[in-house]
Amino acid sequence: MKILGIETSCDETAAAVVKNGEKLLSNVVASSMDLHVKYGGVVPEIAARSHIEVILPVIQQALEDADCGWKDIDAIAVTYGPGLGGSLLIGVMTARTLAIARKKPLYGINHVEAHAYANFLTKTSLPGYQLPPSPPKFPLLAVIVSGGHSQLVLFQDHFKYKLLGQTHDDAVGEAFDKVAKMLGLPYPGGPSIAKAAVKGDSNRYELPKARMEKYDMSFSGLKTAVLRLAQKQCGHGHDFPSHKLPESLSKAQKADIAASFQRVAVETIVDKAKTAFDEFAPKSVIIAGGVAANRELRRHLKEALPLPVEYPDLNLCTDNGAMVAALGCFMAMKGRPAADPYSLEIVPNLSM
Ligand code: KG4
Ligand code: ZN
Repeated sequence: MKILGIETSCDETAAAVVKNGEKLLSNVVASSMDLHVKYGGVVPEIAARSHIEVILPVIQQALEDADCGWKDIDAIAVTYGPGLGGSLLIGVMTARTLAIARKKPLYGINHVEAHAYANFLTKTSLPGYQLPPSPPKFPLLAVIVSGGHSQLVLFQDHFKYKLLGQTHDDAVGEAFDKVAKMLGLPYPGGPSIAKAAVKGDSNRYELPKARMEKYDMSFSGLKTAVLRLAQKQCGHGHDFPSHKLPESLSKAQKADIAASFQRVAVETIVDKAKTAFDEFAPKSVIIAGGVAANRELRRHLKEALPLPVEYPDLNLCTDNGAMVAALGCFMAMKGRPAADPYSLEIVPNLSM
């Protein structure tokens, strides 16, 4: 069973071929990140235009790398939500057209659910990938943290899952990106904050942790608290414009603010993961999404949980087609209904 996965929900145009839900045959990602850097965040129109330009070469490359012709592909899987409307449309319309033209079954994939499936990839002959020796076991707790999502999901089995909680406002990666912007650190903010924080004192400033229902999260109050703190540190009030903060703060102040913010953001996720672990006793805990790259998050989770947390290869943590293809394989292998290629619609606010 070989599935072509297509992912275009944000700024990555990605396609991959996966065999039997476990073997990565190819993984091609073209990011339009460079085009968004000067705006300090993803510009939806630019992302969509870039998808149109590169999607066909990306799919072609994924087939070539996997040594596959269309005759070898059993089905196509495509992300239909959640994500940016214009971006999702390009992937879904391309997948629908290919499914009709090549007479292949089409599977519509939930992007957040797919993130967990990067962890099921255990084999590849592609160079440079570090994959786990065995797939995660059910019940499986998935902590999905990225620029677009912060979700805690409990999978009892394939397709039997429950959303335990999620952010009520900003995603955690989004908070990293916005705080970095305030401090004048380059986009994407996650790696920039992490780098600045190494030289800072994470206990220098007290920042508030949102008190939310059991597994729910909120990062927008923390972001505002950082803004107020930064304004105060350079001797100004609430009306001081945030674009002037970078030039008004010293390098040491920025490092301390970055470290203090990162501590609270990481603690929030670790606390929730620990509470869920204690309540549901999962056999595996996996982390997915771009924020999974954060070393402090990894270190604290390791300390908090009694079993090793599983991370996909960094290339599979961020958005990619392989996770979409992997979930598509399980849908096909387990007889889930295929989508109608004449009518599959995008659902930008799709929930789990
Ligand atoms: O999964 P991803 O590539 O795209 C989305 O689906 O959003 O995640 C990107 C997010 C960005 O917000 C970025 O700042 C964050 O992941 N990120 C990090 C780190 N590396 C990337 N956040 C914290 N620490 C990092 N080391
Ligand atoms: Zn994602």
